[in-house]
Amino acid sequence: MDEQGIEFKAIVANGLKLGASLTMAEHIQWLRWMFPLEEAAFAKHGARRDRLTKAIMYDHALAREKSGVKQHFVDVLLTLQDKYDLSEDTIIGLLWDMITAGMDTTAVSVEWAMAELIKNPRVQEKAQEELDRVIGFDRVMTESDFPNLPYLQCVAKEALRLHPPTPLMLPHKATANVKIGGYDVPKGSNVHVNVWAIARDPAVWKDPLEFCPERFLVEDIGMKGHDFRLLPFGAGRRVCPGA
Ligand code: HEM
Repeated sequence: MDEQGIEFKAIVANGLKLGASLTMAEHIQWLRWMFPLEEAAFAKHGARRDRLTKAIMYDHALAREKSGVKQHFVDVLLTLQDKYDLSEDTIIGLLWDMITAGMDTTAVSVEWAMAELIKNPRVQEKAQEELDRVIGFDRVMTESDFPNLPYLQCVAKEALRLHPPTPLMLPHKATANVKIGGYDVPKGSNVHVNVWAIARDPAVWKDPLEFCPERFLVEDIGMKGHDFRLLPFGAGRRVCPGA
């Protein structure tokens, strides 16, 4: 890993640590005075993050000037900067949103899927057989192969059902007083949806704790927010754009 990579990883790790430190103050409002925000730590973190992002943006601007090639998300944002009146702060915010939302989630999901394959040799063998048959031995799988790998898709879905990397989704805020399932949720409340629990509810799933990708061959259940039994990417207007 180069110097920028090492700095990048350190900033992401620190960001997660700082983010997690908010939880107590967020959930027990009347105890908030006991958990003052670590303002200085947040400011230092922000400055460090901005420094690295600006260096990356500068590298891209330079490379683009030289070769004219625009191939990264950074380039796209920089190209659209004038058209959409994007400030430097906005671009930095968007870049870090995509990075922090897309990195751990994906890595954790793959790790869980691999762990489940190891624990379930029957499934592993079936997935392997499909890959050997569809891809063969002379090349590496690419994204365009996905439609021809239905079993692998079921494996990914089943891994995301049992191990959603954001088990409580992201916090939402009630914009009005609402009643859900007999509970009053007052306007302004933080709302967490326990998608982990829904995905393990025996009232919703047959043998919920079993890793069984075939369940999705029997019933085609989407995971992009339209079927509330399976919501690893959330639902609605704020559904995960990386899904
Ligand atoms: C297995 C991988 C992933 C999972 C399980 C996942 C899950 C989620 C969930 C549950 C939310 C909140 C949705 C809601 O509140 O309804 C979310 C939001 C988001 N995700 Fe993902 N995500 C994944 C990968 C990615 C990737 C690869 C990217 C980008 C490259 C990404 C970018 C985002 C962004 C920007 C948001 C915030 C959207 C908004 O608030 O409008 N995610 N994700």
